[in-house]
Amino acid sequence: MKAKVQQAYIEAMRARDRAHAPYSEYRVGAALLLSSGDIVPGCNVENASYGATICAERNAICAAVARYGAIKPKALVLVTEREACPCGLCLQTFAEFCGPDFPIFLSTPKALGPATPLRELLPFPFSPEKLHGSD
Ligand code: THU
Repeated sequence: MKAKVQQAYIEAMRARDRAHAPYSEYRVGAALLLSSGDIVPGCNVENASYGATICAERNAICAAVARYGAIKPKALVLVTEREACPCGLCLQTFAEFCGPDFPIFLSTPKALGPATPLRELLPFPFSPEKLHGSD
């Protein structure tokens, strides 16, 4: 797992270099490690119509679903300038595909950061049970 996370960190850094961020000039790179061992990168892609911007994390998740269909995410490495936490939309997107223990490595270009479990960043995700009821 450790070697794979290191590899994902390199992929996230490379994806960050490819970010399309002409408006904020804030580059974000992500790399999703799947249980198969595959690594799917994502970067933020901004738009002149600001609301059409997609974050790096959701880009990675969507790319993984588009490529593999059903996915089993094992970890995510995120690279930002100052160890930023994923935004609420991205955390909710993780909750759709990942369990509460899902580790998110909040990193910078200087170093791979420590793992933070999804439950710490999003203690109360919106869930399908809330949508349809479980009884
Ligand atoms: N951004 C991400 O890619 N991920 C996040 O979790 C937060 C924000 C991007 C969106 C936008 O391109 C830039 O960072 C500034 O908000």
